[in-house]
Amino acid sequence: MRRGNLAQISLVAERVTDPETGRHLSEGEGGLLGHVMVSRVELSGYPDRVLMALAPLAVLPQHQRHGIGKRLVISAVKRCRLLGAGAVVAAGHADFYTHLGFHPAGHYGLYCHHDDVPGSFVAFELLPDYLEGLGGEVQFPDTFSELGI
Ligand SMILES: CC(C)(COP(=O)(O)OP(=O)(O)OC[C@H]1O[C@@H](n2cnc3c(N)ncnc32)[C@H](O)[C@@H]1OP(=O)(O)O)[C@@H](O)C(=O)NCCC(=O)NCCS
Repeated sequence: MRRGNLAQISLVAERVTDPETGRHLSEGEGGLLGHVMVSRVELSGYPDRVLMALAPLAVLPQHQRHGIGKRLVISAVKRCRLLGAGAVVAAGHADFYTHLGFHPAGHYGLYCHHDDVPGSFVAFELLPDYLEGLGGEVQFPDTFSELGI
């Protein structure tokens, strides 16, 4: 097992209240609305660079477009920063992530095996120029492949 096989952070969203209306966005009591997991990933050739991946991230379909995904990403990124990460990466809805300030990972010369859809792999620097001049393969924990994530 490579270093970083264990999830570092697992955050859930439940019973979120809309700050403007005070209305509970969930239908039921204590219902799970969304989840994000964060794991350490490795940048091939740069073992000292601390990168973390936000994945998987999901919000229940009936609760999407209410700001829950954004809140999960912001919380996860804050925790990554506290854990010493210099950059975070994610694979999935590139439009969603770029809307939140991420850049296509190719911009930094990064790629990964989860980049099935061109442009779906994205990155965000937590420290200025942390990815500048690097590039290479971002290796996710083996668990991701084993689970087909
Ligand atoms: C992608 C996903 C997590 C977004 O969660 P969400 O709660 O619906 O997103 P939010 O409501 O927090 O959206 C935050 C902002 O992103 C925008 N946005 C949401 N989904 C978007 C998309 N697919 N494309 C572009 N922008 C998007 C919203 O309009 C919102 O913009 P605003 O802040 O200007 O109002 C959710 O659609 C989902 O769970 N999808 C299925 C699983 C998945 O694909 N996960 C990602 C890969 S792991």
